[in-house]
Amino acid sequence: MDKQHTVMTWWKKAIGYIIYPSAFKDSNGDGIGDLQGIISKLDYLKDLGVDLLWICPFFKSPMDDNGYDVSDYQKVDPRFGDNDDFDLLIKEAHVRGIRIIIDFVLNHTSDEHPWFIEAKNNPNSPKREYYLMLPPKYVDGNMMPPNNWKGFFSTSTWSYDEQSNLYYMHIFSKKMPDVNWSNPDLRNEYYALARYYLDKGVDGFRLDALAHLARDLSFSDSRVALDENGLAFDMNRYSNRPELFDYMREFKDRVFAHYDCVTIGEVGGGISPEQSLKLSGYENGSISMVFNFDTAWENGAYDSVTKKDEELVTNVVKLKTNFDRWYQACDGKAWMPLYWDNHDHPRVLSQYGSVKYRKESAKMLITTLLFMYGTPFIYYGDEIGMSNVDYTDIDDFNDVSARNYLAENKDKYDLATLLRFLRRTSRLNARTPMQWSNEKYAGFSTVTPSQKVNGNYLEVNVEDQQKDEDSILNYYKKAIALRKQEDIAKSVIFGKFSFVDIANNDVICYVHEGSRPLLLIANFRDHETRFPIKFKIKRTLLHNYGEELFEKGVVALRPFECYLFEVDC
Ligand code: NOJ
Repeated sequence: MDKQHTVMTWWKKAIGYIIYPSAFKDSNGDGIGDLQGIISKLDYLKDLGVDLLWICPFFKSPMDDNGYDVSDYQKVDPRFGDNDDFDLLIKEAHVRGIRIIIDFVLNHTSDEHPWFIEAKNNPNSPKREYYLMLPPKYVDGNMMPPNNWKGFFSTSTWSYDEQSNLYYMHIFSKKMPDVNWSNPDLRNEYYALARYYLDKGVDGFRLDALAHLARDLSFSDSRVALDENGLAFDMNRYSNRPELFDYMREFKDRVFAHYDCVTIGEVGGGISPEQSLKLSGYENGSISMVFNFDTAWENGAYDSVTKKDEELVTNVVKLKTNFDRWYQACDGKAWMPLYWDNHDHPRVLSQYGSVKYRKESAKMLITTLLFMYGTPFIYYGDEIGMSNVDYTDIDDFNDVSARNYLAENKDKYDLATLLRFLRRTSRLNARTPMQWSNEKYAGFSTVTPSQKVNGNYLEVNVEDQQKDEDSILNYYKKAIALRKQEDIAKSVIFGKFSFVDIANNDVICYVHEGSRPLLLIANFRDHETRFPIKFKIKRTLLHNYGEELFEKGVVALRPFECYLFEVDC
């Protein structure tokens, strides 16, 4: 065990909250959420008990990927406000004891970023080396991309630029050229930007698409199976490659180590927990934690286009074993973030919970998350039980990944099938306006929001739930306050964690030992089930139903019922 494990840092104690700025609160009546909107809701967030905000990108951008395509890292995009709003947001959050991490997009820029424009225009500019630009390949006289790699948004990783007569690499949209981290000048640019933000007062970063910064610079064709367009989706060519760890170590030495900041890398791309320690391990690591994707999509929704709704069932055992795998690798060696959903996933309530049992399942899900090993991150709107969209028009799925998916699949499936698929998987499910009240546009804006409000806002909204003692929102507040109690936090952060009956198909049960040993029992099904309790219960700390039903050491669990007990270990 590393001695850093025993240190209680502020970010281990923190309760995170993720804000998708365009959907949180519109302050100026243009239908788009903005920084002043966030400022106006800081008291709400403080009251909820969260104290660490991760705010998705709000910098200047042509918005091909809603701000993940940055054209000026040092300027707030006018639709979100201006740099003074950014400074004010930091100040007002800090006054309330809330810290802020921003989303730092390091893997690519917008194609409208001045670096890329110069790289295209000027063959002699050093900026050309900031990107991955390669000459075309000619096969039988036909011009082809340099290789057969496929990216994340259903297209080749290469687009042709006429001006330079070169192809440039992009693992996301073609308006998001990948930057070349093997170039030291490029790396210096990002280090300077990181210092700029930290000097401004931000408390750290969520490092976007971190896993992909190093690529296979041989650029040879992949040999994995090709799709019908002759493309190979071979993430290994641009994920978690050895140089990534060197780049991040340099980043730490040059920047992170000099600030009291938290850094959380997004490491999809199939990283193993053991490999992740090279990034987030207390010993020799370079960042504070990594977000993995291994507890998302465990209801089979991903790739479920031909499946009926009834076929999607949460794989509770898989959820537990995946979490356990990460815990076993990280225990005593690294800290972890915890989340159920974010702006890239459908709403957790629609995935692992149930719209029919909205209240019960939303309460159960937050209880399960809060007391595991890690810093919990709540996605905006989950605290009131927001769920997937009810859109019936395919055009409402106006997102680059959905559009590209539709273009690729429109001839393979009928419209109803595609619509059903997007309603269960699209990122837009989690990007609808926050439901503040039952007023028009859910109190998010005074005009038609740029993203359509979920029709359930009349029943699911903050204002109504504030008045209802038994609401999801009030349960969240209670659960968060409990998680923040010093002795409970100590058990969660330092106590030994273990699942009980990990093979049980329906129930998640875990114990967190420590000064106040905790036992969580949560039914993940919409039917009743029974679970034996082998611990001596001292008291119930949280429960999402009225009456407690026990019989001879067995608890009878109703749909999505959960208990958090204090026990004797
Ligand atoms: C991961 C972000 O979370 C996602 O929203 C974005 O599309 C890609 N990275 C590209 O930046």
